[in-house]
Amino acid sequence: MKRVVLASYARGNPRPSDFRVEDVPVPEAGEREILLRTLWIAVDPLIRFSLDENLLSGATRMEPGSLMVGPTVSQVVASNHPEYAPGDFVEGRSGWAEYNVLAPDEADYRGPPRKLDPSLAPVSTALGALGGPGQTAYEGIVNVGRVKAGETVVISAAGGAVGSIAGQIAKVLGARAVGIAGGEAKCRALLDLGFDAAVDYKAPDFADRLKTALPEGADVYLDNVGGDVTLAVLPLLKRGARMPMCGFIAYYGMGMEGPGPDRLPGFYRQIMAKGLEIRGFAGIFAGQKGLNDIAGWMKEGRLRFPEAIVEGIEAAPEAFSSVFSGHDHVGKLLVRIAPEA
Ligand SMILES: NC(=O)c1ccc[n+]([C@@H]2O[C@H](COP(=O)([O-])OP(=O)(O)OC[C@H]3O[C@@H](n4cnc5c(N)ncnc54)[C@H](OP(=O)(O)O)[C@@H]3O)[C@@H](O)[C@H]2O)c1
Repeated sequence: MKRVVLASYARGNPRPSDFRVEDVPVPEAGEREILLRTLWIAVDPLIRFSLDENLLSGATRMEPGSLMVGPTVSQVVASNHPEYAPGDFVEGRSGWAEYNVLAPDEADYRGPPRKLDPSLAPVSTALGALGGPGQTAYEGIVNVGRVKAGETVVISAAGGAVGSIAGQIAKVLGARAVGIAGGEAKCRALLDLGFDAAVDYKAPDFADRLKTALPEGADVYLDNVGGDVTLAVLPLLKRGARMPMCGFIAYYGMGMEGPGPDRLPGFYRQIMAKGLEIRGFAGIFAGQKGLNDIAGWMKEGRLRFPEAIVEGIEAAPEAFSSVFSGHDHVGKLLVRIAPEA
């Protein structure tokens, strides 16, 4: 089988050459272990935290030669564990490999692989709307953002998995949703999804366009990005605005200090003067309630979830790198490793 390992620590944004595809034997399941055939890999931005030589947060450490690990959907091929049977579909964290062996009893805080019912939804949605990104969007908009009907919500990385769901949840709640994304095509796709306005942050007059899209300012800013995008949003936040801080992908390759200039003084000024409420959060807090609400809205046709698919395990390094360097996909970017049996 094939698998992807880290070839060298990432510096700045990850590049395909940071990874290597290897041929290795298919592993065998031991006692109370399961053998999984990987169907889908999600190239999630947070995996980047594991690729630094000096870890800056509690992320799993990956060293050169280590198997890449992240969210996957797989099918059980062989089971020595009473709770899993061949044919079961599961979602969890496993290697970027065509086959993986997992020990469900040794699961970390995220719990053992979650069994999926393919009759309820395509199993790939367990990595998107009905998985971590869906929970994260729900937590950011409903629980942390406390978005209400009539409010205006602005969302960065709105074309991504989290942002594209977040904007639609804001619409379900009766708010006005403004998305920020890279490129005109992505912005058009956001309007198709029901966003009220979409602004291209790569346009030279981005700040002016954003002002036009937010004539009365914004009540809530779901931030996935940080960086220059957030600097352009801050002056447009209303007094007392809420800012659920979901991610800061613009800084993921930067370590603890950017190259400057130091913009913290201006940031502090705005937090105090406007009484901004900024709260970081983890999406898993939304739990099953978030997933149930999203599933209901999908069933009612009120929430759509586009997926972009690239084929084959060799495509994973390029797909992961493109999350940082930019790509034209909207929704969840997935790597299909094998067809569902
Ligand atoms: N708090 C949590 O529990 C949690 C859970 C999941 C994800 N997250 C975070 O939420 C954010 C979005 O995740 P996702 O799953 O939606 O990711 P995704 O689907 O991979 O989308 C990420 C998008 O971010 C944009 N981007 C990348 N670098 C950028 C930059 N320097 N400036 C502006 N935009 C940039 C790109 O879109 P464009 O083409 O538009 O630039 C990219 O497609 C990430 O920061 C992620 O780490 C947090």
